[in-house]
Amino acid sequence: MSAETHPVPQDFRARIGPDELAALRRAFDADPDAFWLDQAQRLDWEKAPSQAGDWSFAEEGFAIRWYGDGQLNLSVNCLDRHLPAHGDRTALIFEADEPGTGRTVTYRELYEETCRFANLLKQRGIARGDRVMIYMPMIPEAAAAMLACARIGAIHSVVFGGFSPESLAGRIKDCDACCVITADEGVRGGKYIPLKRNVDTALEMGDVPTVIVVKRTGEDVPMKHGRDIFYEDWRGALATDCAPEAMNAEDPLFILYTSGSTGKPKGVVHTTGGYAVWAATTFDWIFDCREDDIFWCTADIGWITGHSYVVYGPLMNRATSVMFDGVPNYPDFGRFWETIDRLGVTIFYTAPTAIRALEREGDNWVTRHKRSSLRLLGTVGEPINPDAWEWYWRVVGDGRCPVVDTWWQTETGGILISPFPGATPMKPGSATQPLPGITAELVDAEGKTLDGAASGNLVLTSSWPGQMRTVWGDHARFFETYFSTYRGKYFTGDGCRRDEDGYYWITGRVDDVINVSGHRIGSAEVESALVSHRKVAEAAVVGFPHDIKGQAIYAFVTLNAGEEGNDDLRKELIQEVRHDIGALAAPDKIHFTPALPKTRSGKIMRRILRKIAEGETQGFGDTSTLADPSVVDALLTGRQ
Ligand code: WTA
Repeated sequence: MSAETHPVPQDFRARIGPDELAALRRAFDADPDAFWLDQAQRLDWEKAPSQAGDWSFAEEGFAIRWYGDGQLNLSVNCLDRHLPAHGDRTALIFEADEPGTGRTVTYRELYEETCRFANLLKQRGIARGDRVMIYMPMIPEAAAAMLACARIGAIHSVVFGGFSPESLAGRIKDCDACCVITADEGVRGGKYIPLKRNVDTALEMGDVPTVIVVKRTGEDVPMKHGRDIFYEDWRGALATDCAPEAMNAEDPLFILYTSGSTGKPKGVVHTTGGYAVWAATTFDWIFDCREDDIFWCTADIGWITGHSYVVYGPLMNRATSVMFDGVPNYPDFGRFWETIDRLGVTIFYTAPTAIRALEREGDNWVTRHKRSSLRLLGTVGEPINPDAWEWYWRVVGDGRCPVVDTWWQTETGGILISPFPGATPMKPGSATQPLPGITAELVDAEGKTLDGAASGNLVLTSSWPGQMRTVWGDHARFFETYFSTYRGKYFTGDGCRRDEDGYYWITGRVDDVINVSGHRIGSAEVESALVSHRKVAEAAVVGFPHDIKGQAIYAFVTLNAGEEGNDDLRKELIQEVRHDIGALAAPDKIHFTPALPKTRSGKIMRRILRKIAEGETQGFGDTSTLADPSVVDALLTGRQ
């Protein structure tokens, strides 16, 4: 690990410098409630909150509440309040797959589109508290659809367009959605994604009353009479105003499904007031975005990063931001940098997997573009290796742009550990320090708190406004997943080292979640897809290091008697995973083995499987608890 420290670049000026950051930390220490109420003042409240947090991590059946007596509408905070003085300001720069074919949307236009959408939802009988699925490309209508839900108090659940119809169907069922908003097709990297057809397939497994289809390509798609409508057919007749619902701070804003270590993906629930405060606060603190900045977060709205830093955070802060519907390597490996020059992007936020993939293609793709507009760079989604960090800093940023390595999770709503670009000296590979208001600790396997320089598991000991409130429909699972490992503490699932300067180095998941290209995949989900194939008896899935993706999926598979493991079957199994989950969960390696290493009580010893997947041939630790130690030798000979 590189120990080199990079000071804040001399010419970089941010609103929050070292003194301001120290003052924020002091303010929190002195009076946490006053500190949090202060942050809430960034928003326009229908009824201002008089209380900050009210929570406990220690009891089952507990609730986490923030700003509990406040009322507000989030679409008002993103749109209406900017209109009087800044209605003509660009809210979104839509950058389509084909360079230069996008368009810009002002705050007033986004307001009107949102109101139209909201009115259409109301006409279709959708009301406060109803669940609406959004399965869309990265087009401005997708942001308008999210904001329209927020406006009428419906709860949105965005599903990434790369998930399969099966996955979509599972989510629709889990939250009992009454509407799906989609597009005819998506276009990414020159390829067409049949979104509406996927929705149709999903709805064969459980229908909904309304499907709203936005035309993106104009492709002829089947429409079911009475259920499916084209947004464009109605748009002209819809009013461009719509009175906002006054939402209670603790009313759910959205559900976002994410993978955990066990079972099916869980519906992470975020509520209105606290989430809004945290998304607005962290966007302001970490990205230092001002009037003349152009912010670009490359994440898809199907992930939490797209929720907080493409839609809600930037819009609440009246930023101008880029909504990108393409991929980093189309039409060529210079796409990011060409787009940055063409649009004048000043702040750029992307994932380490993209940085590594582009680094591999050589510096020329970067240096042939000027990038002179850039002043700040950021990363999110997985640990960034110091090499990739240095390349990002030196080649992309010409050594002049701070790099904010931001650690957070779907569950945290917004960034929790990150440098402040104008205040925190950076160490490549470290997300540096918890933000003011965030109380992080490292604990050992027994839950003992570790002091000073140490390695352990990362926990949070107090709540913050952006914390998830529950698992949709299963509060017991919420408690079990996050608060039962270390009583009274929120367990992140991440391992972490803290160095002598108090800097945090996230080492990755310590549970059965695999982080593939920054996307969370649960081992259990992939295993369940594999065993649904009639030839498969058992499967165990682990992550292994991958140069570009960070981690990739390695599947150990045992077959039913008489079946033969060969390349054709490998293809079928990969197809099975694509069908059940989506291409993003496809294993890189499938290793057929006569048996899996199990303890005498029948538990699969994943520790051994991880080592084998990593290419180790010895040092498996204590194997005396294995029911049949010869399994290890068989596994070694069959390694992929
Ligand atoms: C990992 C994405 C190291 C981590 C916002 C976490 C990171 C999981 C970083 C959450 C980072 C995210 N450094 N690891 N800067 N950012 N992670 O829910 O393992 O998709 O638990 O949220 O990604 O992934 P999620």
